[in-house]
Amino acid sequence: MLRLSAHTGSAWFAAVERDFGTFLQDHAACERKALATAMALVAHYPDRVELVDAMIVLATEELDHFVRVRELLCARGIPLAVDKKSVYAAGLRRQLRVLSGARLTDRLLVAAIIEARSCERLGIVARNLSDGPERDFYRELAVCEARHHADFVRLAKTYADPDDVDVRLDELLEFEAAILAAQPVSAHVHGGGLQLNDEVVPDSSIASSAAGTGRHGGD
Ligand SMILES: [Fe+2]
Ligand SMILES: [Fe+2]
Repeated sequence: MLRLSAHTGSAWFAAVERDFGTFLQDHAACERKALATAMALVAHYPDRVELVDAMIVLATEELDHFVRVRELLCARGIPLAVDKKSVYAAGLRRQLRVLSGARLTDRLLVAAIIEARSCERLGIVARNLSDGPERDFYRELAVCEARHHADFVRLAKTYADPDDVDVRLDELLEFEAAILAAQPVSAHVHGGGLQLNDEVVPDSSIASSAAGTGRHGGD
């Protein structure tokens, strides 16, 4: 099940609606970076057979997502965006521990968290789009990214004590929420726009139906 310590509010999708082109460009970049992350893990841990097997499958899926998001861009006459450093991903990477075993755990958990946030937000997009191929596409992707989140958590627990992994995941989830809370609301997949304290957002997203939501929901 999906784990996040803070949920996205209505302001985020309002920003996406105002600038759907920027959202698509950033989404394409996210898929490309997910592919690169999977192959970087293959390069850094070639002797971890289960990890390598999973990352090859994941990379194939992320490439397919990238191709399909680019097709949406092309249909609108929008080019891919110039590569930009992600404040969100950089903030998460700063939390990586240095010792080799702990570093692998953290790399897998950071990837799991990025997948979880992507799943939540692509699910919000799917829920708010009109019926049609784009809605179907985002619904499919939200389910897929939920599975990727679970795969990364499972892999982390393959190579480290599962209880330690759960504790570390909760710590990193708190960092993730703090990073997002410090960012301005934007149409980017990992831009600011967390739920405000007094905001009621129905918990009926694709993400929750696909994988469940909530910090204590397990994985
Ligand atoms: Fe993806
Ligand atoms: Fe993914």
